[in-house]
Amino acid sequence: EGEVYKYYSDGEWKKSSSGKAVNIVNPTTRKTHFKVQACTQEEVNQVMEIAKSAQKAWAKTPLWKRAELLHKAAALLKEHKAPIAECLVKEIAKPAKDSVTEVVRSGDLISYCAEEGVRLLGEGKFLVSDSFPGNERTKYCLSSKVPLGVVLAIPPFNYPVNLAVSKIAPALIAGNSLVLKPPTQGAVSCLHMVHCFHLAGFPKGLISCVTGKGSEIGDFLTMHPGVNCISFTGGDTGIAISKKAGMVPLQMELGGKDACIVLEDADVDLAAANIVKGGFSYSGQRCTAVKVVLVTELIADDLVAKVNAKVAKLTVGPPEDDCDITPVVSESSANFIEGLVMDAKEKGATFCQPYKREGNLIWPLLLDNVRPDMRIAWEEPFGPLLPVIRISTVEEGIHHCNASNFGLQGCVFTRDINKAMLISDAMETGTVQINSAPARGPDHFPFQGLKDSGIGSQGITNSINMMTKVKTTVINLP
Ligand code: G3P
Repeated sequence: EGEVYKYYSDGEWKKSSSGKAVNIVNPTTRKTHFKVQACTQEEVNQVMEIAKSAQKAWAKTPLWKRAELLHKAAALLKEHKAPIAECLVKEIAKPAKDSVTEVVRSGDLISYCAEEGVRLLGEGKFLVSDSFPGNERTKYCLSSKVPLGVVLAIPPFNYPVNLAVSKIAPALIAGNSLVLKPPTQGAVSCLHMVHCFHLAGFPKGLISCVTGKGSEIGDFLTMHPGVNCISFTGGDTGIAISKKAGMVPLQMELGGKDACIVLEDADVDLAAANIVKGGFSYSGQRCTAVKVVLVTELIADDLVAKVNAKVAKLTVGPPEDDCDITPVVSESSANFIEGLVMDAKEKGATFCQPYKREGNLIWPLLLDNVRPDMRIAWEEPFGPLLPVIRISTVEEGIHHCNASNFGLQGCVFTRDINKAMLISDAMETGTVQINSAPARGPDHFPFQGLKDSGIGSQGITNSINMMTKVKTTVINLP
């Protein structure tokens, strides 16, 4: 109690000159659990300066050496999985086992990125001029991928470690420096993760981590002239950032309203299992969570009964006990979810379970017979609340999916692969999963949102490419 975690700049742990701290409230106890520095704009300026000069030397560091350091960081992260996971439990109430999985997955992501990077960036292009009309073979064109400069990484609360390294590792292997602004809930987990990069021996100033209030340093960071690329994962803030950011490459992964379409020829048990896992893991606080079920009338009763049987088995309680459903991240989030529940109640949705809430803990709730006039048909609860809309035709389901502002992922359950492919083509989402719930991973798969769900594509290979620019030299022969 009382200790304020230091921020990381120029290879050192520092106190902010503001003398102020930001409180991190444990979602379970609703009491302040950690404190981090409230960095100032002046400190952000310093970090940017240092990041700029550190990057110059790093870009000249051989690729294999960059990869070697990343492998070291990956191993250190895995070694420190227990204390980092413990922070995740306290800061974001992620179930204990899932917290460990997040850290291990992050280590694997870093290693994969190092391997992918040495191969991808180890190759360039060589072109000759005489394939284009009017040219002789007098021009040799050499083209390769070079770093952008300083990458700003802003991960969200739901994967503070994993969605930080999914930005850090590609940035570093590609020769960029990195400034990390962690989410408030998850900031201490991020600082521990950064410590692993520190221990791995990366050059001073190459990575920095500034903590603080969004109102003080948020816009200041994203609009900073020293930033050459922004990689953001989160909510609506991403849209505001996109509007304000300068002419730099942006990678944004924002919300989702991932639809699950279940056709009458589906394996209903498989669909039910995936709906419960996809809808309720980490209490629905994933952008790729199943957020609306669209089921054909013929099998709706069967599916709802099977989902309810599985919902009844979900354990509800503290993350320390590794419960399936844990408190949502904040009181305001719980209030927002409750608002959606009340709206659905007024408008006549069928409650498959009674609505129950204690503090930030909300019991899992399936709402049947949801209609398009209910907010829950369109909005993202980011909580353990899942609407079912009964449809009479596949077209109706596709129409609902495409009428959404979001377009992250979607899924379809059917035994007819031809039908599945046609539906996948028709769904305006970055990814469609056939016979499984939406998910970002494995982490080398492309991952992208359409419409308000984001811009740019992620996944290890795409992120490395996105964090580079093409540089060309042409040799002109006499
Ligand atoms: O909500 C963040 C998003 O990236 C989801 O990741 O692994 O839960 O599908 P995942």
